[in-house]
Amino acid sequence: MTQSKETLEQTDTQLQLTIGQRIRSRRLLLKMTQQDLAVTLGLSFQQIQKYERGSCRLSATRLVKMCEILSVPITYFFDSNFNLSNTPFTTSFTAVQEKKQAELGFSLPVEQIKLLDLYEQMSPTVQETVLDFMIGYVKNLNDINQPVADNITHQPIPPHQTYGRRHSRRWSNEREQKLIQHPATLTLPPNGPVKLTSLFQNPPHRLWLEIGLGYGEHFIVTACNYPNDGFVGAEIYLSGVSATLEGLDAFSCNNARIFPGDGRVLLDRVTSQSIDTLVLLFPDPWPKAKHEKRQMFSPYFMDHLKRILKPGALFRFASDAAAYVDKVTKILDKEPSFSCAHRWKSPNRPNLQDWPYTRYEKKALSAGRTCEYFHYLFNPIA
Ligand SMILES: C[S@@+](CC[C@H](N)C(=O)[O-])C[C@H]1O[C@@H](n2cnc3c(N)ncnc32)[C@H](O)[C@@H]1O
Repeated sequence: MTQSKETLEQTDTQLQLTIGQRIRSRRLLLKMTQQDLAVTLGLSFQQIQKYERGSCRLSATRLVKMCEILSVPITYFFDSNFNLSNTPFTTSFTAVQEKKQAELGFSLPVEQIKLLDLYEQMSPTVQETVLDFMIGYVKNLNDINQPVADNITHQPIPPHQTYGRRHSRRWSNEREQKLIQHPATLTLPPNGPVKLTSLFQNPPHRLWLEIGLGYGEHFIVTACNYPNDGFVGAEIYLSGVSATLEGLDAFSCNNARIFPGDGRVLLDRVTSQSIDTLVLLFPDPWPKAKHEKRQMFSPYFMDHLKRILKPGALFRFASDAAAYVDKVTKILDKEPSFSCAHRWKSPNRPNLQDWPYTRYEKKALSAGRTCEYFHYLFNPIA
């Protein structure tokens, strides 16, 4: 159906007004006077006034030139949020919101701009609470109707033998409760083997296990990159677990579970030949001889590695401690079932889409330490 002449005229005026307002807010943001803008366009400042008031229409050529000068894409003036038929776009925005729109360099619906404005007016503590609430709220919406695997119950975090702090100074009971109740938190049944694939709603294509995931940089990225795979992590440092859970929530990633405890407890329980990729990145080095037994990679770990990896599985390992690397490679190279597929050394780091820099790694590199990275393949000899 064709629109009436009156409707078309109204739309036209509305469009002119919006373009004018956007020119103005962008110009002010760039701290340009009307005169500055006029000079670059070869016009009088009165002409700019007319454009900004919406009383004069810009030609297509002039609009393109305007985009160049104001460094905005053409969509800054015409975007999907501009519903010509019924959006009271021009009247709903306050000057502050227009300025925010211009700062962003792209347009958002008026409600989102209002939300941003309100958020920025809050203190950091209130911002954190609001964000936590929103993450939880959205997560709950996503999780409705998702059955929890049979063998998960929300139990208190079990005690462990730990060598470092279990959480940061800002840790609180509320955080701990939130962590315990989070649907991605894995609590083990009292005894028996644990079939990790049963933790997921759909049988995962591949199963990844990461021990000592820290703040979860690698864990989150891989879980998001491979939505059909299942990811299980173990981390003893609760602040790291909590940050990782938040990261997973932020990306609505629900193919991951985290055991907030000693990875060795989990290793003991994982069913045989079930893991496709085992990840151990920058395990605590414990360089002193008297502390060596605290190292994650040990004969005990090696036994589990051989037991739980599927034939053809990958073991991804990295460390910045030369002695640790030496120990691990010597053990693995002696094992006929393991073959080194790749070995890299910083600065020639593997530039893989699913291998982001981790927090610990960044610290090591900026302190000038050399990091080594490995991919070992597991092919048991029959
Ligand atoms: C040096 S950090 C590296 C963290 C992370 N992989 C990274 O690259 O940033 C070692 C991590 O292993 C964790 N960790 C140490 N012993 C552990 C254990 N027995 N079970 C689970 N995590 C452990 C520590 O809490 C720490 O987060």
